[in-house]
Parts: sequence; C-alpha cells; structure tokens
Amino acid sequence: MDRNLALEFVRITEAAALSSARFMGRGDEKAADQAAVDAMRRAFDSVRVDGTVVIGEGERDEAPMLYIGEKVGWAVDSAPKVDIALDPLEGTTICAKGAEGAISVIAVAKAGCFLHAPDTYMDKIACGPEAKHCISLDKSPEENIGAISEVLRKPISDVTVVILDRPRHEELIRRVRATGARIRLIGDGDVSGGVATCWKDSGIDLLLGIGGAPEGVITAAAIKCMGGDFQGRLVFRNEAEKERALKMGIEDLEHVYQLEELASGEVMFCATGVTDGPFLRGVKTLKDNRATTHSVVMRSKTGTVRHIHAEHNFNIKPLLLARSEAQEGTHVS
Ligand code: FBP
Repeated sequence: MDRNLALEFVRITEAAALSSARFMGRGDEKAADQAAVDAMRRAFDSVRVDGTVVIGEGERDEAPMLYIGEKVGWAVDSAPKVDIALDPLEGTTICAKGAEGAISVIAVAKAGCFLHAPDTYMDKIACGPEAKHCISLDKSPEENIGAISEVLRKPISDVTVVILDRPRHEELIRRVRATGARIRLIGDGDVSGGVATCWKDSGIDLLLGIGGAPEGVITAAAIKCMGGDFQGRLVFRNEAEKERALKMGIEDLEHVYQLEELASGEVMFCATGVTDGPFLRGVKTLKDNRATTHSVVMRSKTGTVRHIHAEHNFNIKPLLLARSEAQEGTHVS
C-alpha cells in the first residue's frame, strides 16, 4: 500500500470528526452519527482507491451509506484494490454526552485481509508490545493480570485494566478487583480502550471484556501497527446471530481469533479524535470559523505512528468537502 494513501485517508477521518464534533454534548446520538457518516462518505470520493467496505455501518438494507459491500473511493485505473473497516463515529453516546474517547476511524488492508466479522459481540483481550505473547483469552483474568504484572515488572496493584462499564461485566469486574489490579471503567469506546494499551502515556495495560465484533477487527488493525497483541472470540446473543455467522462462512463459533486472523498482511490505520480521549485530542473550535484536529496514522509495514495536527479554515474550505476542494494541505508533524 502506498504510504501517501495513509495521508489521504486521514482527510476522511478528519472530515467525519469535524462534522460530528458539531454535535458534541447535544444529546443527539443519531445526528452526531449521521453527520460523521455523511462527511466520511463524501470525503471518500476524493481518495484514489478501489475500496470495498467490509466492516461498516451495517448491511445494505439497514444502512444507506458505508454499508458492508459498498464500493468507495475514486476508482480510477491505477487505484489500489483495498478492503476497508471503518467507523465514522466510534462512541456515538460519548459524543452526544461530550464525554471522553469518541473517535472517527478507518483501517485499510489488501482485499481479503480483514475478518468479515458479523455484527455480534466479541470477547476481547488486548495489550501493548511489551506484553505480546503473554496474554490469552483461554487464560483466566487472574492469570492474564499476573502475566502482565510480571512482564511489565510492576506489582499487580499498579496494573490498570480497561473494561466497558456494562452489567454483563459485573463478575469480570469483581474478579479483577479481587486481584488488586486497578480498573478504568469506560462507558463506551473500546476501540480507544484497546488502542490505549499500546500507548505509553495512557496508563492502561490491558483491555478485557465483551464489546462489538466489528470494533474488534478495527482495534486489531491498530494494535498490529503498534506491535501489541489482541485476541477475540465471537459471542452470540441468540440462535439467529449464530445462523448469520455460519452463513457468513464462520465455521467454528468458539474459535479464538489471533491478531493475524483478524487483520492479516499489510495494514494501515488512521483515527481522528472527536472528543478528548486516552490517545487523541478532540476537535477544538477556534475563532474566525476555524478548528483543530488531532489524528494518528500508522502502518504495520513500518510501525511508524505519525501524529497529524491540522488547523482547518472553514472560510476557505467549508466543512462538507467537495472533490475539488479535498486536496488542500494539512500540517504534518
Ligand atoms: P457505537 O459507537 O456504535 O455507539 O459503539 C460504541 C461501543 O461502546 C463500542 O466501542 C463497543 O464495542 C460497543 O459499543 C459495545 O456495545 P454495547 O453498547 O452494546 O455494550
């Protein structure tokens, strides 16, 4: 994958973040999400790729835009064929509340390299590079926390685990607390939580618990670029979800997916903060119709994590980009 492509994709997450951030704290999840979807869909038109959405807003009959199977990008002759896993607004509730950790995110791989995850739950475990190969979904939370404590050479009381705050995690939370480890409970946004395990300053060592399966694939792509570890096992709420997964070609419903099975080959990940979070700053509005964004772009091929701080001038480039306007510059640092 061309490295310049990565910088093109970040324009897309920027557009989605800028649009959804206008709805921050306004209590309207749907409007925030719709703004992100519209902006992302439109911004794709300026990027020279022959893209297929494999993780998106849902099936074609339930999502009019960015649905699974939709072709996106400016598919001129030389355009690379890629599969795209995206979430225009990961953390719709976070954005609607103005809370921490909403992001706009895209992961890209060569065609056929992402697991086509059904829209079910996934039991997840994630950690940073130093603890790679020490964790396993087949181990108990106590064993995983013990392994993290050992490899990171810090007492269990200094290990921090991020967990989605859900009733289904009551027992998990109780057991983690019983080990003496610390917990960061998050209301939403386990992509941010997972990525944060690889972020040195985040103070988060381990992600545990059940979240969305599509979000699991996106998280795996990011963690692959940063050299960490991620595993996931699909969790089904009912027989209909199992049926659907089988129809999608998933043979072993109990299978523990390793990182390479979720995101194989060369992968690229980019994300822009919508609200401040553990690894990205959110959109900030400035005077005179301007705003700033903070994004990261990463590629598994090089392991480079590039931060992009951009200042946008809506007087010159209005928020909803037209193709001819979409090539304007950002400041790369
Ligand atoms: P949305 O952005 O679609 O609202 O998803 C947010 C999220 O918290 C994900 O990060 C997480 O994987 C999933 O929802 C958890 O699902 P649930 O809210 O059903 O527990």
